[in-house]
Amino acid sequence: MSSQNSHVVLIGAGRMGAALAAGWLRRKSSGVTADTLTLIDPRPSDAAQALAEEFGVTLAAAADETTLKRADTLVAAVKPALTPEVLAPLAEGLSPNALVISIAAGVPLRVVESALPDRPAVRAMPNTPASIGKGVSVCIANDRAGPAERRRADRLMKAAGVVEWIEDERLMDAVTAVSGSGPAYLFLFCEALAAAGEAEGLPPELARKLAQATISGAAAMLEAGVGDPGELRRMVTSPGGTTQAGLDVLMGGAGLPGLIRNAVAAAERRGRQIGAASGS
Ligand SMILES: NC(=O)c1ccc[n+]([C@@H]2O[C@H](COP(=O)([O-])OP(=O)(O)OC[C@H]3O[C@@H](n4cnc5c(N)ncnc54)[C@H](OP(=O)(O)O)[C@@H]3O)[C@@H](O)[C@H]2O)c1
Repeated sequence: MSSQNSHVVLIGAGRMGAALAAGWLRRKSSGVTADTLTLIDPRPSDAAQALAEEFGVTLAAAADETTLKRADTLVAAVKPALTPEVLAPLAEGLSPNALVISIAAGVPLRVVESALPDRPAVRAMPNTPASIGKGVSVCIANDRAGPAERRRADRLMKAAGVVEWIEDERLMDAVTAVSGSGPAYLFLFCEALAAAGEAEGLPPELARKLAQATISGAAAMLEAGVGDPGELRRMVTSPGGTTQAGLDVLMGGAGLPGLIRNAVAAAERRGRQIGAASGS
């Protein structure tokens, strides 16, 4: 066990909380073991209950005084709207040195800081693939979080995939518009590719399989570092060939780059509006 992760309390063992906990328990590098983790949730997900049984992790409906006192890291994975009201009652029992990590989408650091004042805090924005350890999380720390706390948060969030850090919280809306909403853009692309295949006469099931396997395969090439996206695109595009004909449409006047630009701008704007409406 790492001395830096002497005890982690996870509040909210739903989809993302259970996925994070599974990542910690399955990866030695997280420094978290069944003995150094407590899951808190009045109605835990099936995945969290299975995890508690498999690893023998303590799963409780509420955090008791002893658990809170020994926690040096508290990870909040409850719904954004609930985050302040779930955290505030813990302020008295939680050690003043405990690192607070919130993964609530759209909840700014200062909301976490006002619920649990005077503590090192990190806001992390993971995305959906984090639920299978293939996500990307963007983190920002408050002034009280020093290098040791940042390293601890980095190590814990790596259970969900890649971790990046930013220093300007205003960029979180752009982060959300790119990596937070990004998986949905890709899922739509997959649906559209399958529908287009069907329109060209492919049986629906075959069209769906081809679209899905193509996107997974192309993503795997990017992950394997075969080349950057532009390079890979040029590699499969012979002048005057079929791919060129398709790309001429996608890259033409009202094509995909402009659409994506507008989509990301709209998502970023919506993030700012939601933040403003919630007083953030
Ligand atoms: N899922 C994603 O892809 C994703 C991506 C980025 C960020 N996030 C963030 O991650 C957080 C969790 O999302 P999720 O998808 O995992 O939601 P979720 O499945 O609803 O999990 C939240 C869990 O917290 C529980 N809970 C409610 N009140 C609680 C309390 N007082 N103490 C302890 N636990 C309590 C909920 O129980 P009940 O269901 O009974 O209320 C539920 O089991 C959200 O803030 C979200 O913005 C999620």
